[in-house]
Amino acid sequence: MPKPFYITTPLYYVNAKPHIGHAYTNILCDTFARYRRFRGEKVFFLTGTDEHGTKIEKAAREQGKEPKAYVDEMVPQFKELWKLLGIQYDHFIRTTDAEHKKVVQDILKDLEARGEIYKKDYRGWYCTPCESFWTDLQLIERKCPDCHRDVQELSEENYFFKLSSYQDWLVGYIKDNPKFIQPEIRRNEILGFLREPLQDLCITRPRARLAWGIDYPSAKEYVVYVWFDALINYVSIAKYPAVKEKFGEVWPADVHVVGKDILRQHAVYWPIMLKACGVEMPRTVLAHGWWTMGGQKVSKSRGNVVDPVELVKKYGTDAFRYYLLHEVTVGYDGTFSEDLLRERYTTGLANGLGNLWRRIATMLEKYCGGRIPHSEALQSHQANDHFKLPLFGMWRGYKKALGVEKWNDELYEELTEFDPRLALNSIWDVITIADQTIEDKKPWILYKECDNSEKKSELERTLVELAEWMAHIAVLLLPFLPTTAETILKYLKVDEIRWSLPEMDDPKQEAISFAKPLLRAGNVVERGEILFPPLEEES
Ligand code: MSP
Repeated sequence: MPKPFYITTPLYYVNAKPHIGHAYTNILCDTFARYRRFRGEKVFFLTGTDEHGTKIEKAAREQGKEPKAYVDEMVPQFKELWKLLGIQYDHFIRTTDAEHKKVVQDILKDLEARGEIYKKDYRGWYCTPCESFWTDLQLIERKCPDCHRDVQELSEENYFFKLSSYQDWLVGYIKDNPKFIQPEIRRNEILGFLREPLQDLCITRPRARLAWGIDYPSAKEYVVYVWFDALINYVSIAKYPAVKEKFGEVWPADVHVVGKDILRQHAVYWPIMLKACGVEMPRTVLAHGWWTMGGQKVSKSRGNVVDPVELVKKYGTDAFRYYLLHEVTVGYDGTFSEDLLRERYTTGLANGLGNLWRRIATMLEKYCGGRIPHSEALQSHQANDHFKLPLFGMWRGYKKALGVEKWNDELYEELTEFDPRLALNSIWDVITIADQTIEDKKPWILYKECDNSEKKSELERTLVELAEWMAHIAVLLLPFLPTTAETILKYLKVDEIRWSLPEMDDPKQEAISFAKPLLRAGNVVERGEILFPPLEEES
């Protein structure tokens, strides 16, 4: 059995409710996962929550609660948001799960036995929001070099993991595997960071200072550092190392999707932890940028959070997904603006996709009694494979039929290369072309000339083709705007999507198969409600 495509999100801290940044990561992952599933691949999509550490303990105490009671209360907010956003994950892991805790302890015992851990006295500066230690030299203007907040001086004895002895290996690995860290701008950032000597990683916190963590197995007066604990989730779900066969079923992860602020943990600490345990590397760590507002990262501590639930209430799940996926290129920052969201809603969705569907459905109603006409075009398209649109691939015939070179853009590659923005732009090119075709063919004039049998068949052929394009657009949109795409397919009465093999004369197409939604002549299409109703003026 082939291994599933294993995709992970970061585990979210539960010290506040999720905001737009968290929603973005999960929507990205969901889009990649849906796309793979639709292509027939098995997928294992993991998300969850990071529940230990100072931040969480502090948030709980501030509310006069025990940490466990507090995290139990917070977790449903994440699950509810994922439901609202249509996130189809396969498993939700919590770092307080007993199974996860056991794997963390087993790995620590293993690393100790391998001589990868030692104890030493440490003096340094601690940043609580980042849960990180820094040396004097690393501080910038006496503040945390990552988040620029105040740090606290600490002196204590702790356990350390020998990160530094793997520095040369890691640099070589990143250089030899250009796809390991993506996109390139983020890969270069890590290579830049690795030009300075790596410090060993402090992996414990004295229980006297922080009690809310996993017990350090060989010394009960310590708990495990929250990052060391959390990263292990990616393998603990696979029951590593207790059940090795099970582990082999999903590992290695195909992609860990993370924000750029936690790339170092994923592209430096994590690979070294795995290497030290003798475990295969994940295939890719994909780092996206930040959603910002007023030039600042959206975050609870900066007090500029954008609540995804409010936006979904106002604009709908698919409009929210569309805006986030379309507005930024993965890896780069984006400025959140509700005005822009409204503008994209109006131009892209209401006047673009929604309007195209309405035009096609209305013409079918007016000129064909709402039925898909019995056109020769339909018969030949359905019988032969020649009217086919690549699902995320190139289809030369289609491109030729439309007379556009641009369709050459390969959605397949765009999505597997993690560029949903480009993929959406390609789909919107087809929407524009379909609109243009309506203007060129003028079905309303053909209808007036229907006494002429040639004009009648031209009208029917045009409507059939428009309906087919609409069905193809809906299929292409399934991973991005799942509800809208399914609704259009339902309105068109598409009950079957057939797969066909690629044309084999292009070696690049080998891995690409084509999805062909089947329209049936005589079926009555449903115009339905307006897909994206016009927005009311903001007061
Ligand atoms: N708990 C750690 C991750 C452990 S993974 C083993 C953590 N949690 S977090 O809740 O602070 O952040 C989770 C993810 O949300 C990170 O990938 C982070 O980059 C992302 N985002 C948080 N704010 C963000 C924006 N404003 N914009 C985009 N994503 C950002 O870090």
